[in-house]
Amino acid sequence: MENGVPKFDVVTVTLNPAIDRTVTIPNFTAGAVNRVEQEHSTPGGKGVNVASALADYGHLVAVTGFLGRENTPLFVDLFARKKIEDRFVRITGRTRVGIKIIDPVLHQTTDVNFPGPKSAPADLDALREQLAALDSTWVAIAGSLPPGVNAELYRDIAIGLKAVGRKVVLDTSGEALHRGVEAVPNIIKPNIYELEALVDKRLQSEAEVIEAAKKLVEQGIELVAVSMGKDGACFVSEAAAVIARPPEIEVKSTVGAGDAMVAGIIAAQLRKFSLKQCARLATAFSLVALTRIESGLTSAAAVHSLMDQVSIREAWTREDQF
Ligand SMILES: Nc1ncnc2c1ncn2[C@@H]1O[C@H](COP(=O)(O)OP(=O)(O)OP(=O)(O)O)[C@@H](O)[C@H]1O
Ligand SMILES: [Mg+2]
Repeated sequence: MENGVPKFDVVTVTLNPAIDRTVTIPNFTAGAVNRVEQEHSTPGGKGVNVASALADYGHLVAVTGFLGRENTPLFVDLFARKKIEDRFVRITGRTRVGIKIIDPVLHQTTDVNFPGPKSAPADLDALREQLAALDSTWVAIAGSLPPGVNAELYRDIAIGLKAVGRKVVLDTSGEALHRGVEAVPNIIKPNIYELEALVDKRLQSEAEVIEAAKKLVEQGIELVAVSMGKDGACFVSEAAAVIARPPEIEVKSTVGAGDAMVAGIIAAQLRKFSLKQCARLATAFSLVALTRIESGLTSAAAVHSLMDQVSIREAWTREDQF
């Protein structure tokens, strides 16, 4: 901390990053020799995508988590290009690769997913050291847990961070989310399916989504943002619930729309935006992500040009009750 100002705006944590490799093979046939027409690899993982979007928006960002030592160059290049501070712990093995075989003739996609590397107890110690050494108010923990760690890991990391006054955003799913909310993160951003799994209930209407989010807010989570794909998102705090609806846009790739929304939520917190302003900015971030294949944003101007197209409605305020 220099003059009371943290060194980084945000630190993101990605324990299970991935390289997304897209290969184009016309008439792909299992059990035969196939020729690749085009290929493209991008470094990914939810925390990496969140960092990417925040860096593109002009923030000072540091990244940590686990990277397999054997295939780091794509990540190292990305971080250098975006001036993201790289504090990933290098672990034994290769970061997992997800291969997407796109067949433009048969209009089929085939996924081949490699397992990720296992971390050792010493790697977890190194991660905790990095987190303690990195100076930021906000920490975003995002994505799935890697093999070989306990389901309570996110909870324990979040408890440790909150105890020293840092603010935590958690974006994960399943058991990791279930256990993670026990730490009462400041913000969570489940999508509708993740929220349904968390509260163990089908949520069939806007009112039911708000009700479920409010229960989490009552437990102390300051902001529950529930994303609902093309239907937009619902932002619920102790004071109000706001619904953001996106305009119809031409979608290039839905991968990472949620991650961009997390980045937008954090950007809004750093600007002390109201709930409505936060909903607008976060949705605009997600819309920019939908218009491109790579993670991150085209520009801050692209975000701002979409903000006016987001429709914002207050669905509930605390005053309604009195
Ligand atoms: N088809 C779409 N049209 C318009 N906006 C969309 C569409 N899909 C997603 N969005 C925007 O992106 C936001 C996040 O999308 P979504 O709910 O799919 O997140 P997610 O499931 O967490 O995604 P991710 O795969 O990144 O984890 C939505 O709230 C909405 O603003
Ligand atoms: Mg998501």
